[in-house]
Amino acid sequence: MKFQAPRGTRDILPADQPLWQLVRRVCQEVAEQMGYQPITVPTYEEVGLFQRSIGASTDIIEKELFLVQGHRDEESHYALRPEGTAGIVRAFVQHGMHTWPQPVKLYGIVNNFRYERPQKGRYREHVQLSVEHFGDTSPFADAWVVFTMWQVIRRLGIPGITLSLNSLGTSEERAAYVAALKSALQDKREQLSADSQRRLETNPLRILDSKDTGDQVLLETAPQLADFLGNTSSAHIETVKHYLDAWQIPYAMNPRLVRGLDYYCHTCFEWIHPSTGNSLGGGGRYDKLVGELDGPETGAVGAGLGLDRIVDLLADLGIAAPAAARTVAVILAEPSVLTEAARVVAELANVGIRVTADFSKPSVGTQFKAADRQEAWLAIVIGGQEVADGALTVKRLADGSQERVSNEEIVSFVQKELA
Ligand code: HAM
Repeated sequence: MKFQAPRGTRDILPADQPLWQLVRRVCQEVAEQMGYQPITVPTYEEVGLFQRSIGASTDIIEKELFLVQGHRDEESHYALRPEGTAGIVRAFVQHGMHTWPQPVKLYGIVNNFRYERPQKGRYREHVQLSVEHFGDTSPFADAWVVFTMWQVIRRLGIPGITLSLNSLGTSEERAAYVAALKSALQDKREQLSADSQRRLETNPLRILDSKDTGDQVLLETAPQLADFLGNTSSAHIETVKHYLDAWQIPYAMNPRLVRGLDYYCHTCFEWIHPSTGNSLGGGGRYDKLVGELDGPETGAVGAGLGLDRIVDLLADLGIAAPAAARTVAVILAEPSVLTEAARVVAELANVGIRVTADFSKPSVGTQFKAADRQEAWLAIVIGGQEVADGALTVKRLADGSQERVSNEEIVSFVQKELA
């Protein structure tokens, strides 16, 4: 029997790696440039951590958790992480990071696992840039997180992405709204989709997210969350908008944006590209979460950018990674000068030049063919004559032109040619 990658997972083969490496590199560089420090947390955590943070009645917890059995006789107390925030908040509490100088700004590039129905852009293992900003309740922190994500999108040169923005207010404001929404929809219960009827009991806010057209019509006359926000909450989101305007980040208010995780309050947002129905990234403020996980009440805001969807989109838009560094091939023309040829290989490798060689192949022709296959830019041929002269033959493989270069100058000559 031949094994296959599990359903909903993918092998990223060498040809697809340059785009992935580009996106990972940009995410890391931008996160650090914007003042976030790297953190690594375990790939699995206690199930209770995810239930308590993401919310027991969310799809992620109800349907999509990958449970992990520590030992075959054990019950599964653990789950693979479905997202990065819960583990990072757990680490914040565990290591007493509230005593560190605030704000504490952390990031990770994390693999997450959700047992979803696989389709394009929806995988059972996906990668996110998770950016978490603790100890700052100001709208500036919300805007800074959005600005950081925007920097990644700009650096990658992806056109057409916009931000969908909303405020979820405080938990008290949301509770008053949910009660009003529930009572308004209760009368029309029969007209709601089956999913929304279920959500009316378990998580009414999520009905706002429904894609069902019948539900959407009903929602048009339903109460609006924005009408339940107090002055402080309204001022908070207005100030976030001012910063976004100042940074010229395009956004549109979406009063029905609620997101699929329960920990959000105040600002929440998603990045959307018109070519896909799926969000490329999203996040928001979660001022209660540190407290919920038995840490001291600490304001926090964060976001996750989905690398799989970004890479898929770049590929669809025909945006390629910059060409890889050029390679130089060292060709051994006579076995008697192997030591000198090996020394040249080492000199080039030691300064970080991409070098290829295969001295196990006695034929110069075979070595040249291998250099071609690897798309080498230059070939340095070393035979008895070159060693006697103290100068090497360097051939430009694109046009076949060649030069003699002294031993002393070979490294700087190659560096210049490859640049
Ligand atoms: P999320 O919206 O669940 O938020 O996920 C963030 C992003 O991860 C999505 O916008 C999407 O690009 C990507 N993503 C999610 N699920 C999948 C999947 N099955 N396949 C491919 N990509 C996927 C969070 O996870 C929050 N932790 C974000 C956050 C950080 N909020 C505050 N801090």
